[in-house]
Amino acid sequence: MDDLRQKYLGAIADAADEAALEALRVAAVGKKGEVSLKMRELGRMTPEERQQAGPRLNALKDEINAALAARKAALADAALDERLRAEWLDVTLPARPRRAGTIHPVSQVTEEVTAIFADMGFAVAEGPQVESDWHNFDALNIPGHHPARAEMDTFYMHRSEGDDRPPHVMRTHTSPVQIRSMELSGAPLRVICPGRVFRADYDQTHTPMFHQVEGLAIDTDISMANLKWCLEEFVKAFFEVDNVELRFRASHFPFTEPSAEVDIRCSWEGGTLKVGEGDDWLEILGSGMVHPKVLEAGNIHPSVWQGFAFGVGIDRIAMLKYGIPDLRAFFESDLRWLRHYGFAALDVPTLHGGLSR
Ligand code: PHE
Repeated sequence: MDDLRQKYLGAIADAADEAALEALRVAAVGKKGEVSLKMRELGRMTPEERQQAGPRLNALKDEINAALAARKAALADAALDERLRAEWLDVTLPARPRRAGTIHPVSQVTEEVTAIFADMGFAVAEGPQVESDWHNFDALNIPGHHPARAEMDTFYMHRSEGDDRPPHVMRTHTSPVQIRSMELSGAPLRVICPGRVFRADYDQTHTPMFHQVEGLAIDTDISMANLKWCLEEFVKAFFEVDNVELRFRASHFPFTEPSAEVDIRCSWEGGTLKVGEGDDWLEILGSGMVHPKVLEAGNIHPSVWQGFAFGVGIDRIAMLKYGIPDLRAFFESDLRWLRHYGFAALDVPTLHGGLSR
């Protein structure tokens, strides 16, 4: 028995891989292994002999099994160490420029807008892109017969036959997130809501999917003056110019009263757009004081609270700021376009570090 022990424990300790270990296991404690055969001999022994040899054989079997398990674990550790050594890589090395991806202008501008409004105390809110007809229209004071529903070229979702609830819609603007934010947080409230919106429209400045950022501020003492200041600050920071002139033009939206569209002074001299100078005006957003019915739909008491809201086209201001002529190219995933108009992946826009560069 001592010979067996020496033979197998020595061989197990020297086993170079799992296959060698398995061969040793079969030879020692497998069905026809040497230890197993010895155990079978117990039956032919006298009771006294058996009492001596039985426990010793069992102990040897346990010892061999334990040695097999220990060697197996050691081999696995060594294999892992070897892999970790071989597969080591330096994650602090700069990315190879040819392989580096770029940040899409829509993402970049969304981050820029978020940085600017975060600095003014606005949180970011989100809502679903497939929206209930109530959130997208009714709650925003656009009832069923309202012409704005037809004007918006809405995409309707499918309802199964016999289900006459109003179908969900692909949201036509980010304004339903106003309602969802009011429902979720109540007043006072200060949020911006960037996201995708959908309308059936396609030409150089329209795509069926595009992006907006909604702004909403509700408090007991909010006025048009606050709206004007916020938008002026925003436009100066966004276009990175010290002086801008905004023109608030009376307009109409069902969900704001009064309503204003905002134009920005610009020049197109030499075919390039310059913001803040010249004799042209360019419309960039819709805005106004939140309609009392909209506050009510969001469970906010209009006799206590007032708010302003605005909606900006993200793709639109991205085109303006970065001189991108055709909106359709935004969504064609053309690598050459992405490399030309894209932004460095690690260059996150901040107010202190610079928005665009
Ligand atoms: N929802 C409007 C649109 O899509 C924009 C807007 C938002 C106007 C908020 C006023 C207030 O055109």
